[in-house]
Amino acid sequence: MIASTDTVREAPHALELPWFGSVPAMMALGPLEYYRRAWKKHGDVFRVTLGPRNGVIAIHPDAIERVLGSNRENYVKGATYDGIRLLTGEGLLTLDGEPWRARRRLENPAFHRDSIRRFVDVMGRISRQAIAAWRWRIPNGGVIDIHHEMMRVTLEVVAATLFGQRLGEDAGEESGGAFAEALELVSARGNAMVQLPLSVPTPSNLRMRRALSTLDRQVFRTIAEARREPPDSDKIPTLLSMLLASRDHNTGQGLSDRDLRNEVITLFLAGHETTALLMTWGFALLAHKPHIIRAMREEVDRVLGGRLPTAEDVPQLVYVRRVIDEILRLRPPAWCTARDAVAADSLQGFAVQPGDIVLPIMYLVHRHPDFWDDPETFDPDRFSPERSKGRHHWAYMPFSLGPRICIGNIFSLTEGAVLFATLLQELDWTMDAPEVAMDASITLRPKGPVPVRVRWRTTS
Ligand code: HEM
Repeated sequence: MIASTDTVREAPHALELPWFGSVPAMMALGPLEYYRRAWKKHGDVFRVTLGPRNGVIAIHPDAIERVLGSNRENYVKGATYDGIRLLTGEGLLTLDGEPWRARRRLENPAFHRDSIRRFVDVMGRISRQAIAAWRWRIPNGGVIDIHHEMMRVTLEVVAATLFGQRLGEDAGEESGGAFAEALELVSARGNAMVQLPLSVPTPSNLRMRRALSTLDRQVFRTIAEARREPPDSDKIPTLLSMLLASRDHNTGQGLSDRDLRNEVITLFLAGHETTALLMTWGFALLAHKPHIIRAMREEVDRVLGGRLPTAEDVPQLVYVRRVIDEILRLRPPAWCTARDAVAADSLQGFAVQPGDIVLPIMYLVHRHPDFWDDPETFDPDRFSPERSKGRHHWAYMPFSLGPRICIGNIFSLTEGAVLFATLLQELDWTMDAPEVAMDASITLRPKGPVPVRVRWRTTS
């Protein structure tokens, strides 16, 4: 249903300058602080001017539910996702309408809980190997940049689960480097006032084209190798082999090499840094809360007694899961999302015009005082069944909600539990700095390195 806009009001405009719109204040304050201040002043729905576009900011769960749930057909991944399309092409993250539905149907089985179970073992082994390598390098009380380390570990996990490959040091550096560079350039493009087509040979466009061709070379080679794999191979299926085998249930068609390339890059883009950020923010937030680390470890030791976790163990790590939920509440790696409005609509009585860009802000809805007690306090037990009862479903949405909920949510919650469990078995950590500053670009990143002081739990 599309609401009539006759009775709706214009949403208040936030902290704007004539001609320049919201951008100068946003650049001075950073988007998180800018939106937070505007929210306090203007309420749960307000307008911003983002370069040539009108933006509508949605912070109330009912407004967000309308955009991503009940009236979602009116809100598409239009031109706003063109930057990401440069990298992924048309894939699950960027498609809309029937093509998206068909692709999602095709990919859902690969991400089902039963499929993810088989990756628990490899996630645990990769984590143990990383820890063993740190033991060589880092003395008791030594410092590591945990974000750098978590980016490496989660890259290894994506490569192993997608392709069944250990990243040789070189291949990992080459494709990981090309990927990081392309991502950085996509992000810078998103922030730029003027976006020249990729065919214009500016220095950054040339770098982007180079990074994309390195990536493509690697990905197409891997797809060709996977296609040559005999179907009765006794190897553990990977996400790629599951995608290769999947067929549309209406047409019987599988994915072309180009579709597979787009999906592989989409899964890298959507699944690698986000999960690394869950871990990094976890380390940073817990560094000054030894009682929570202790409670997590008691559970890990009780359930695992020193061995690697199995798929059956993961649901037993109930407290670890609550801590993960709370990390994702306070530091959602996807801190906002965006949709383009097709037709006029209204959100909480405020007008949305065709062509507006609507931005649900997860970072703020997770702090909305109508739905969260003491929102800035780190309190994992707020996710206990008793205290979760009656909470607005759309007040917590680190993976988004509705039909386009993150397809990798079980994957990353499983990975987070396995990584925390294996890390807690072997080390303790603190941080000298009181906190880590946030940098809200496409994802919610730490500003700079995250130095963590490691204490080994055993000497083995
Ligand atoms: C903590 C980790 C993660 C977070 C916070 C996260 C967050 C999100 C969010 C908020 C969306 C919705 C985007 C939108 O529609 O606007 C999304 C979509 C998606 N995510 Fe994740 N994600 C995570 C991990 C993963 C992993 C591990 C994978 C894959 C291995 C993945 C693959 C995807 C894909 C393919 C989509 C598009 C789904 C669709 O539109 O049908 N994500 N993710």
